[in-house]
Amino acid sequence: MMEYEIKDISLADKGLRRINWASGFMPVLGSIRKKFKEEKALEGTSISACLHVTTETANLMISLKAAGADVALCASNPLSTQDDVAAALVKEFGIPVFAAHGEDKESYYHHIRKTLEHGHDITMDDGADLLSTLHKGYKSEIDKVIGGTEETTTGVIRLRSMARRGLLGYPVIAVNDSMTKYLFDNRYGTGQSTIDGILRSTNALIAGSNFVVVGYGWCGRGVAKRAKGMGAKVIVAEADPIKALEAAMEGFQVMPISQAAKIGDIFISVTGDKWVITGKEIQKMKDNVIIGNSGHFNVEIKLEDLEEMSVEKKEVRENLTQFKLSDGRKINLLGGGRLVNLSCAEGHPAMVMDMSFANQAYAAVYLKQNARGLEKQVYTLPKEIDRDIARVKLETMGIEIDELTDEQMKYLDSWGEGT
Ligand code: ADE
Repeated sequence: MMEYEIKDISLADKGLRRINWASGFMPVLGSIRKKFKEEKALEGTSISACLHVTTETANLMISLKAAGADVALCASNPLSTQDDVAAALVKEFGIPVFAAHGEDKESYYHHIRKTLEHGHDITMDDGADLLSTLHKGYKSEIDKVIGGTEETTTGVIRLRSMARRGLLGYPVIAVNDSMTKYLFDNRYGTGQSTIDGILRSTNALIAGSNFVVVGYGWCGRGVAKRAKGMGAKVIVAEADPIKALEAAMEGFQVMPISQAAKIGDIFISVTGDKWVITGKEIQKMKDNVIIGNSGHFNVEIKLEDLEEMSVEKKEVRENLTQFKLSDGRKINLLGGGRLVNLSCAEGHPAMVMDMSFANQAYAAVYLKQNARGLEKQVYTLPKEIDRDIARVKLETMGIEIDELTDEQMKYLDSWGEGT
């Protein structure tokens, strides 16, 4: 009997329909699934995956299994699990899932351990919680792992920190750092799905609002771009001078969060860092503002401060908590401060996750074929794979591009020709 721990197996039918719908927007992953299935590219390899349990992730899991892998899945965030998807993976595809929407911290880590115990030749992470659990609690297992993959910026930062300290026990592919990942998923995926989460939870009008984006990395750029597109007056708060300059030249108002706090109607943090919106900033905010986070962990808004300075707290809508300060001002928190796009909406659209998860699938196969020659460091996938994914994506979008002539290639490779 297959072991699994999910909320409700009777949701499988709905989950299956939604997984199939997403599949229609994931042609690159679909073509890889076909290729790796024929090659049995992951035959006999166990994969422990800790990813957001969504329809898109389901398609990745199904592809890995088709390639011969023995996969198990747990959640990379307690609020992003789609229980119908978990049910369908178990019932329709025989994939063990350990995840339930809204689970507490204890259950979250229990599920990570259950997933790890299923088998872990390869670990697959979104935020590095599974890898770090393995490194802390299963030390004798580390040497048996072939390698790992990491989906997101925050996870890659954690892994590079481990590698710098000599603590990383096996090679990891930073899927996030493929161009076909971060330029699209982080920018267009986060951009759209963050707005989607805000709208689903508040039905707020973006047009004319003072919309503060804290952090101008690839995700912040996406959020700022989409908010601007919907008519918001976008303000960017950013600590890095180069990124701040880019934001300014893109036409956004740039100022410290301490100033933006007084002006904003909607605040979204996307820094990957902790405590970027604290009691100090909240104290300056207008009545009835909306605050949320689209970074990986729920540490960007200092929730302890918000709790402490509030005299009342109530759920005013689904995924929207209203805090009342002692002077009567209301602060509306999206998704409990967890990543807005996945806690208040469904995450990035399948069309963009197609490329992210094509990279994940390639990374797993790359590790199987090459890991023994890799150091215990963080790697990116070879450029040719990145370009191949882009090429196939273009093809599936019906877009043709030019090819360089021999003369042009020779010119680019030369140095002698000048004015
Ligand atoms: N990260 C962001 N959006 C996602 C999605 N739809 N599925 C899995 N991981 C995600």
